Amino acid sequence: MNTLTIPKNMNLKLKRIRMIFGALVLVAAIGGFSSCEKNSYAPAAVDPSTTWHFQTDIQPIFTANCITCHNGIRLPDLRSGKSYLSLTKGGFVNSPASTSRLYIRITTGDHIPRTTDADKLEILYWITQGAKNN
Ligand code: HEC
Repeated sequence: MNTLTIPKNMNLKLKRIRMIFGALVLVAAIGGFSSCEKNSYAPAAVDPSTTWHFQTDIQPIFTANCITCHNGIRLPDLRSGKSYLSLTKGGFVNSPASTSRLYIRITTGDHIPRTTDADKLEILYWITQGAKNN
């Protein structure tokens, strides 16, 4: 009798272990997929070899996202017609571009969500290309 009941119990335990293991694999797979989605970025459609223009590429970013606060009361003044001088004379752009106060500010702290990843790269490339008033 004993020799019969033990294998039966073992089988039941094995089935349970398999079920638990299966459930764990499923949870891990779902978790893996969703975390993958969260952490993977769509490749930014910003080409560093394109010439980035202050008037047509960069100023529109400022006009849309910055001038509610940077409207002459606070430096840099990012209003159209004022921004270029304010950024250059104020020492907000320099080489290497990633050390510019402008770039550092939009990639740190509360300013991060104010521009998209593409905007940040356009600004970075514009500074890298000499921060011209083009
Ligand atoms: C809601 C208001 C607000 C908006 C919108 C805003 N800023 Fe600012 N910004 C501030 C304040 C306040 C400061 C000064 C304190 C600080 O550095 O956070 C500042 C400081 C800065 C500085 C100076 C950093 C330094 O090194 O002195 C830069 C450059 C800047 N902002 C760029 C931007 C750009 C570019 C945008 C638009 C993408 C923007 N800000 C949008 C409020 C704002």
